Amino acid sequence: MLDHVAGGIPAALDGSPLYREEYGNFINGEWVAGSSGETINLMNPTNGQVLAKIASGNAQDANDAVAAASAALPAWANTSASERQAILFEIGRRLEKRLPDYGMLETLNNGKPITEALYFDLPMAVEQFNLFAGAAFTLQGQVHDRPDALGIVHREPIGVVAQIIPWNIPMLMVATKIAPALAAGCTIVLKPAETVCLSVMEFFEEMKDLIPAGVVNVLNGYGPNVGEALVTHPDVRKVSFTGSRPTAQRIVQYASVNMIPQTMELGGKSANIVCADADIDAAVESAIMTTVFNKGEVCLAGSRLFLNEAIQDEFLEKFKTGLEKIRIGDPTDPTTQLGPQASVMQRDKISSYLELGPQEGATVLTGGGRATGAGLDAGNFIQPTIFTNVTNDMRIAQEEIFGPVTSAITWSDEEEMMRQVNDSVYGLAGGLWTKDLASAHRITKRMQTGTVWVNRYYNLITGMPLGGYKQSGYGREFCHDLLEHYTITKSVVINLQEGKMGIFDQ
Ligand code: NAI
Ligand code: MG
Repeated sequence: MLDHVAGGIPAALDGSPLYREEYGNFINGEWVAGSSGETINLMNPTNGQVLAKIASGNAQDANDAVAAASAALPAWANTSASERQAILFEIGRRLEKRLPDYGMLETLNNGKPITEALYFDLPMAVEQFNLFAGAAFTLQGQVHDRPDALGIVHREPIGVVAQIIPWNIPMLMVATKIAPALAAGCTIVLKPAETVCLSVMEFFEEMKDLIPAGVVNVLNGYGPNVGEALVTHPDVRKVSFTGSRPTAQRIVQYASVNMIPQTMELGGKSANIVCADADIDAAVESAIMTTVFNKGEVCLAGSRLFLNEAIQDEFLEKFKTGLEKIRIGDPTDPTTQLGPQASVMQRDKISSYLELGPQEGATVLTGGGRATGAGLDAGNFIQPTIFTNVTNDMRIAQEEIFGPVTSAITWSDEEEMMRQVNDSVYGLAGGLWTKDLASAHRITKRMQTGTVWVNRYYNLITGMPLGGYKQSGYGREFCHDLLEHYTITKSVVINLQEGKMGIFDQ
């Protein structure tokens, strides 16, 4: 398997090279070199080797991408619902057809285990296109039928939208962002993350003959070099962002320049609550999953584990034993369960929290450092880690670590536990383990968070709203609510009465 990672460019299903050595920006249906001539390396986090290069975009490139999206808007906004449905559906079919190729591209550049790419990321991405394929037909206005007037509410595409996505789940992010915007009749400038986007580049290469030129443009580069020019461009009417809180705050400032609406999905520090009556083995399995899934680089991760005192010892012993059996290694190997962190920057960020935990008084129950040994030394591998003796006010319980690290907090009194669960600036997801129906409803109702999974973590249902409370962001994705974000209404009132009103006649 390592040969596959270390050798030259592997082959796609059809025998052609899986990816190319260099990508520019994808503007008006063509790959064009960035105007600066500078490039950014896309790395393989398993072995530290360069996979390919992308353009390092600048403000000029951002302007070119917006110009292409603006030019394409009138025609795309006027396509029929059937045309948009056919394209969205075909995108999903093409993704499905080359699922192993896209899975490998995600794994090579991001480090996620290939099984996750094949059985989670890509099927979920396909579902987003399925979800929105028929959505154009549901985009209807309203009629307000009055005796003396007829009110018509038109629903129009909002226009050119900027979509900025992160590096942890690239293809799922592309799907989550572009499917609803395309369904609504918007045109797009998409900015992928500069660290991980190899799958995204190949995806747009394949969509060249399917998505009309200029309808989706891909702008590569470092966020600060393109973000302001893109989001403050007067022709951009909306911005949708997924990523970190500090970057979101900057983007909201850019958005204030032309008063454009925003959708923000900003991570979390989600509570996974285990009650005394829980199915311990099932809860442990989910705790292991949320620790290692996508190397913990998941905004929804249940990284604050609230364990009832009565079951804590049994739980922690099983959790530790389970994590210590996790197979760490080459993520292209289908037996691997934990791959390398996506970037050196991310690895180092996690390492700094691994040092911080003991300084704050937490105990390392297992893990606590970099994973080393055969096949691991050249990669960004981190040991799956459990911190115990954690209090909710510690930074390791308050800040998003975005790595395979779970902080366990003990509870006994439900009232106090609820207070701590909600004592977080975030509120994106959460888990609850109990067999008691009343507890399940009472506790989930009190959790200040956008999604709660009872008795199975990551039990995502496409079509249900996904998004945050508090500083986890605003605007809901994964659902048809998004059609409202990507459209704007116009109210037209037709007076049915003839002549003047006569109010100034005396
Ligand atoms: P980031 O928020 O800086 O990057 C996300 C995207 O924003 C990338 O495409 C980046 O190029 C772009 N960006 C950065 N600065 C920008 C600017 N000024 N204008 C426009 N776009 C800009 O996230 P970063 O620094 O890569 O990761 C840091 C931490 O953020 C992670 O450790 C994690 O805690 C959190 N994060 C949360 C994610 C989530 O799913 N909610 C995803 C990625 C990161
Ligand atoms: Mg950043």
